Amino acid sequence: MPIDPVPLQWPEQGVTRVPYRVYEDPAIHAREQALLFRGPTWNYLGLDCEIPRPGDYKLNFVGETPVILCRDENGEVHAMVNRCAHRGALVCIDKRGNREQLTCVYHNWSYNLRGDLTSVAFKRGVRGSGGMPADFDNARHGLERLRVASFQGIHFGTFSDATPSIEQYLGPVMSAYLKRAYGRPMKVIGAHSQYLKNNWKLVMENVRDPYHASILHLFFGSFGLSRQTMKGEALLDDTGWHHLVYTKRGTDDIRGTEYEGNKLPNMKSHLKLNDPKILEEWPEFPDGITNMVQTVFPAVTFQQISNCLGVRHIVPRGPHECEWFWTLLGYEDDEPWQTKIRARQANLIGPAGFISLEDGAVTNFVQRGIQGGNPDALAVVEMGGSHTTSGEDRVTEATIRGFWKGYREVMGL
Ligand code: FES
Ligand SMILES: [Fe+2]
Repeated sequence: MPIDPVPLQWPEQGVTRVPYRVYEDPAIHAREQALLFRGPTWNYLGLDCEIPRPGDYKLNFVGETPVILCRDENGEVHAMVNRCAHRGALVCIDKRGNREQLTCVYHNWSYNLRGDLTSVAFKRGVRGSGGMPADFDNARHGLERLRVASFQGIHFGTFSDATPSIEQYLGPVMSAYLKRAYGRPMKVIGAHSQYLKNNWKLVMENVRDPYHASILHLFFGSFGLSRQTMKGEALLDDTGWHHLVYTKRGTDDIRGTEYEGNKLPNMKSHLKLNDPKILEEWPEFPDGITNMVQTVFPAVTFQQISNCLGVRHIVPRGPHECEWFWTLLGYEDDEPWQTKIRARQANLIGPAGFISLEDGAVTNFVQRGIQGGNPDALAVVEMGGSHTTSGEDRVTEATIRGFWKGYREVMGL
């Protein structure tokens, strides 16, 4: 596909500055679809536990491209573009289900679970007239396929032959932390989606931003779920593309910091919950981590907020909007009381969650704030310096700079 010439000159300060145009410009949006989502990146498709049986499928998106993730009759997992080879209609409409074959409703072309075209309605016409030309070859008209790679039951897809193996892509640190949470059979305990009126990258910056966590989120700081003073780390892989931030609840000392005496305007440590059950948790992981957000570039987040485990996947919907898909998880062998605590803690996140509602609001504040402004204006991403490397400090934006490092590399900006 021909790509437009580079639509932007990146500022000379590098990843400590972000041109606001990247959140608005349709030319940049088109370039992302072509070079980033169809480029050398592994994109989140779904979990093993979402398609456990032969014939199970789930719909997802890579960038804006609709994709089918499915398991064939031999148990192999495949991913194909959800676009009929005939005239481009969606082949699957229901978000998930079980099928022996995939049939397009428009003219009934059918595909097997590997995406091969298996039948064309009226292929030979009716009583010898009409129909496809004699040399029409089904084998040349299957669904467009993606390469699929699985890591710890998490399925990723890529359109590019240049994408390295998933292990190489993730690197050792990100792999180790995914294994920590996903190394056991999982089960889905809920799902929801959230439509956001802002560019998708504002969300990915937000989830990679440990600086805002205890400031914007009144609940985090006020009820001691996560503070900068707790032990933790902000980690990036060697490329800087992926990140991980964690904290350990109950390890902090707020003396001599802005938390002491409520110096942060947002903190309200005098607040009390009428029903503190939302804070009920149990120590789940031997490493003592109670709060963790991990991203795999470009658009997926794996989270642990106390015992609330889940995946958040962001899907662009044009330059100014996006949709966020949340999948809430537990382990297959969870006791009912554990599922109950996980589900209750899910009220912390999501569109109306005590923590996450502010994220959805503030990313929109940015979209509205940059509207119609100086086209050369730049965001400042300089907390913690200019590096894109790991550290124990979470008053940092290194994790956001890592996103822009990966972004610039794949986008050629
Ligand atoms: S568009 Fe699918 S069969 Fe015609
Ligand atoms: Fe947040």
